[in-house]
Amino acid sequence: MKEIVLHNALISHKMSVLRDKNTSTKEFREIIRELSNLLCYEAFRDAETYSCTVETPVATMQGQRLDTDKYVFVPILRAGLGMIDGVLQAIPNATFGFIGLYRNEETLEPVEYYFKMPADISDRKVVLLDPMLATGGSAVNAIGQLKKRGVKDIKFLCIVASPLGLETVKNAHPDVQIYTTALDERLNDHGYIVPGLGDAGDRMFHTVE
Ligand code: PRP
Ligand code: URA
Repeated sequence: MKEIVLHNALISHKMSVLRDKNTSTKEFREIIRELSNLLCYEAFRDAETYSCTVETPVATMQGQRLDTDKYVFVPILRAGLGMIDGVLQAIPNATFGFIGLYRNEETLEPVEYYFKMPADISDRKVVLLDPMLATGGSAVNAIGQLKKRGVKDIKFLCIVASPLGLETVKNAHPDVQIYTTALDERLNDHGYIVPGLGDAGDRMFHTVE
């Protein structure tokens, strides 16, 4: 499946503020929320809807509704937590699951530490949330954990992707549609996306200045 990169002048503007090392934590969080909201709308562009009758103050019409109970939004801890508010703005009654992963700093391999999903996860469509797709190891692991529990329909939303991360996920899980607001140049020797935005979790949660 070909990745979907959102192109829009306002997104480019927001990305430039987000990437700036002098941007405050407050503004960083706000932009992650806004971009996550846009990604969420894009991920639902062609989602299945059902017809409903709506009485407007003026007339009766046939409208469309979405069965939001069919979906689970799954942030990858920690940085994915910053994307929750953007999802909630679009879908206030959204259901969430959580996957805890961190990268081993030397090997860059993901280390699993938490997994919590609704009981009926295998019947739901999953939208995975993680701002950074770097080596792709975390995304591949998270998708694998979900598939092991029987999940069949998965989308992955991120803010910045690297070419290697995209290819790695597409090779391991070709059925997963990836959405991103930026496709960057490469990774550096420490596995950070270049130009990127640094460590998303640290910037989001103010772990370091
Ligand atoms: C970051 C990010 C992704 C992962 C991406 O998390 O949020 O989960 O790295 O890198 P990858 O594509 O090479 O796997 P990190 O491991 O820094 O944990 P954190 O969110 O707790 O800071
Ligand atoms: N994780 C981050 O937070 N940033 C990167 O550039 C790569 C992985």
